Amino acid sequence: MENMYDKIQEAVAALKDRVKSVPEVGLVLGSGLGAFADSIEREAVISYHEIPHFKASTVKGHKGNLVFGKTGGKNVVIQQGRYHYYEGHTMQEVTFPIRVMHALGVKLLILTNAAGGLNRNFEAGDLMLMSDHINFLGDNPLKGSNDDRLGTRFPSLHGLYNTALMGQAEQIAMELKLRMHRGIYIAVQGPSYETMAETRFMRGFGADAVGMSTVPEAIVAQHGRIERILGISCITNKIPEGGHVEVCHEEVMKTSARVAPLFVELLKRLVAVA
Ligand code: HPA
Repeated sequence: MENMYDKIQEAVAALKDRVKSVPEVGLVLGSGLGAFADSIEREAVISYHEIPHFKASTVKGHKGNLVFGKTGGKNVVIQQGRYHYYEGHTMQEVTFPIRVMHALGVKLLILTNAAGGLNRNFEAGDLMLMSDHINFLGDNPLKGSNDDRLGTRFPSLHGLYNTALMGQAEQIAMELKLRMHRGIYIAVQGPSYETMAETRFMRGFGADAVGMSTVPEAIVAQHGRIERILGISCITNKIPEGGHVEVCHEEVMKTSARVAPLFVELLKRLVAVA
């Protein structure tokens, strides 16, 4: 994306014309979690196509809004619907909203997603805190010339996911009787699901869950030095030993819809205490 810095400023200026509050917490909602954005005291709901340089979202079950408001006494901005690399967007387009949220003032970013369970101890409906990730996308959002105003050329991803926040999330999961693990998320391009051979390969790599998002956003958040970053996966399906048979988007949506009410509650409590 040419002149990304200027494009961020343009998007921020357009948003500041419409929103008075300064968000300190940013959230990206994965499949089926859109209800979180409906549960807050809303100040503004702004469709992506009204925001300069935002693309329209193309996936079923994903809305395309930035939602501003308040929950747990904090000003938040929510990406209700994210961009995926498999939609054909560039890495810079996928992560542009993160740049904008950061420029608006976000210091704490919570990234959520739906993921397939590779770890044999995981059940559909469990949650997993991303303790680390494997970027298997074959691309990186920081590729290309670096603008030092946005971050350093060679950022370290050490300690990307905040362990103190993980502890807080686990505490709340316990209160809500939600099964929560920590594990490694591997990001693949999709949109086709893994073959048996790929599944074996990813397990051998040490990955616990596989999905098609989040990693680009986390890399950009770290590049921009957003202070605290947390990633939470909803394990929407177990990946069978024989590989995917007919696991498909419907099962992913069904499980995320089942878990959504408690997941939303967890996010609300987490924002309030974090
Ligand atoms: N594989 C890849 N991405 C996914 C899956 C899966 O099984 N479930 C949800 N997102």
